[in-house]
Amino acid sequence: MSQNSTAPKLQPAFIPPADGRIVILTGAGISKESGLETFRDAGGIWSKVRLEDVATPEAFARDPKRCHAFYNMRRARHRAADVQPNAAHHALVRLEQGWPGDVMVVTQNVDTLHDRAGSKNLIHMHGTYNQARCNFCGHVIANEGDLSVEDVCSACNKAAGMRPNVVWFGEMPIEMERIYGALSDCDLFISIGTSGNVYPAAGFVAVVSKHAGAHTAELNLEPSAGATLFAEAHYGPATATVPAYIDALLQSL
Ligand code: APR
Repeated sequence: MSQNSTAPKLQPAFIPPADGRIVILTGAGISKESGLETFRDAGGIWSKVRLEDVATPEAFARDPKRCHAFYNMRRARHRAADVQPNAAHHALVRLEQGWPGDVMVVTQNVDTLHDRAGSKNLIHMHGTYNQARCNFCGHVIANEGDLSVEDVCSACNKAAGMRPNVVWFGEMPIEMERIYGALSDCDLFISIGTSGNVYPAAGFVAVVSKHAGAHTAELNLEPSAGATLFAEAHYGPATATVPAYIDALLQSL
């Protein structure tokens, strides 16, 4: 394992072949320097709100107004003018555009900063803030504003079922078949800004090492819960480590 402190230049321990497939997993840490809170850092979201009160299907059934208030607040923060993609989001777009092989970004983030930066081959495995879904019929709509229990589904006409189109604890993440397909066939797996506490994403590094025999790298502020499973790690803020790491990959071409 190589561990570098934040430095403008960074040497990856492994460079995939130019047609190699790269899968990148991102978490809340990549958006921290864009002004969005993480969940489990000191002072993070789950230190202020109990996830059992706002981020489970049971919480929505019990107290939908409370769930809406939480997500309306977070969506409003996400819409704020000062919340913009940062150098790490942009570096991943440069990789997708400049790397000859497939590059896929799988994000646990429900913010749209990867989309806004320009990532195209992108999976939001935990859904997104900018969509709502009907709990009764599954109809999905674009939604940037507040949701309330008075909202009526435009497909089934039922009230009180519109909810954020995000994946709550106890629900199945989105597009898992496509994600596992990419993981089982990649040459390099990079995990960025995730604490490695939430499955199935926390298990990707083991899947990749075991089944694809791929190289694995963690770019995080500090060692994640799964840090020992990675072949390589670089610790520092994402806006420093990610551009440095990605530019080194691109310069190898
Ligand atoms: N640069 C890089 N990493 C950072 C930065 C930064 N500037 N700031 C914080 N981090 C790291 C933290 O050290 C931590 O390891 O980002 C990680 C964030 O971890 P979590 O808050 O647990 O977020 P995440 O791993 O994305 O959570 C997974 O849990 O609550 C659910 O559905 C939610 O998608 C989320 C999932």
